[in-house]
Amino acid sequence: MNVEKIREDFQVLKKEIIYLDSACMSLKPIQVVDKINEYYNEYPSCAGRSVHKMGLKLDKELDDSRKSIQKFVGAKKSSEIIFSKNASESINLIANSFKFDKVLLTDREHNSNLLPWQKFKYGILRSKEDFTFDLEKFSEAVKKYDLVSFVYTSNIDGYTLPVKEIIKIAHDNKAKVHFDAAQAAPHKEINVKKLDVDFLTFSGHKMLGPTGTGAMFVKEKILDEMKPFLIGGETVVDSNYDSYVLEKLPQRFEAGLQNYAGILGFGEAAKYLGKIGMSDIEDHEKKLVSAVDVKVKEVGFKGERGIFNFNLSGIDHHEVAGILDSSKNIMVRSGMHCAHSWYNAKQLKGSVRASFYLYNTLEEVKIFNEELEKIRKLK
Ligand SMILES: Cc1ncc(COP(=O)(O)O)c(C=O)c1O
Repeated sequence: MNVEKIREDFQVLKKEIIYLDSACMSLKPIQVVDKINEYYNEYPSCAGRSVHKMGLKLDKELDDSRKSIQKFVGAKKSSEIIFSKNASESINLIANSFKFDKVLLTDREHNSNLLPWQKFKYGILRSKEDFTFDLEKFSEAVKKYDLVSFVYTSNIDGYTLPVKEIIKIAHDNKAKVHFDAAQAAPHKEINVKKLDVDFLTFSGHKMLGPTGTGAMFVKEKILDEMKPFLIGGETVVDSNYDSYVLEKLPQRFEAGLQNYAGILGFGEAAKYLGKIGMSDIEDHEKKLVSAVDVKVKEVGFKGERGIFNFNLSGIDHHEVAGILDSSKNIMVRSGMHCAHSWYNAKQLKGSVRASFYLYNTLEEVKIFNEELEKIRKLK
């Protein structure tokens, strides 16, 4: 993987910044920006309803984009991919379009995979003391649930759950499985068919795509049973004053005029990542994280992953982030990272999170380490 060449595709990197906040949102390559502009400059029209040239061109482009996402996650059919505005919306769509009796969550869920389920009966499966997933406890607990909804890779510390084992155990116990892959899809190869997962949700904006884009994969036979939560424009083929006939899949789940430019950019982002290769990206991130100086107090799992979450003793996390930004334009995130429940349970006020992606370099990690050392000495 040629990182220097990759960096040329990201215009903002000409500004001499060290961007270590990709878990919040990734940067965008020029190919994605060009695709967005192509829509607005060449065929800015409505999809699925106009028979003129621009409308038909857009229909084809959207179809291609859906196929790119289908290929990216290894789905059997492109109609199993539903576009949304982010991972949160995807999870809300599932939680409001299907009736579950009891949902099992982990203790490290992002608010997006915690709050939408609180309207059901739900349980929380605690991590082991070393912050890893407790498969043994899970095998017992799952018997009481009809949906398991877990984070795939944690935005707190980059820990990836044993997804294959979880899906097998859940299915053996007749529970469906949803994985929140917002932090997994950008960083590792996922194949929903091989995994046999029922629902997978993810964001476009964390995987080089535009803001306001996300998607969900749902197995076709489950989509057929789901009642769309959002209905209206483009979700029906016919309506009367007292009834309507739903559209085919996937359109019946995509109500109203969509973020066409965003969806096209999202498809382009998936193609870009596919060309580079997810396993190369994963290897590169592991090298970067293992080069981070570990003389800090880490919050969460200690292992190889693309996220480094820590506190410097005696210095507030926001202060550390502020100093990194003002000294060397090092952009990290500080706070509770939308996982308040995890921090509150551990009585932690927050932490600093440095997250890495394909465009980061070992040289950047070196500067990051040096700056941390200087901040440490301030105490
Ligand atoms: C694990 C995880 N799930 C869900 C989300 C929410 O993603 P979105 O902003 O696309 O709704 C995030 C965002 O940080 C995340 O890290």
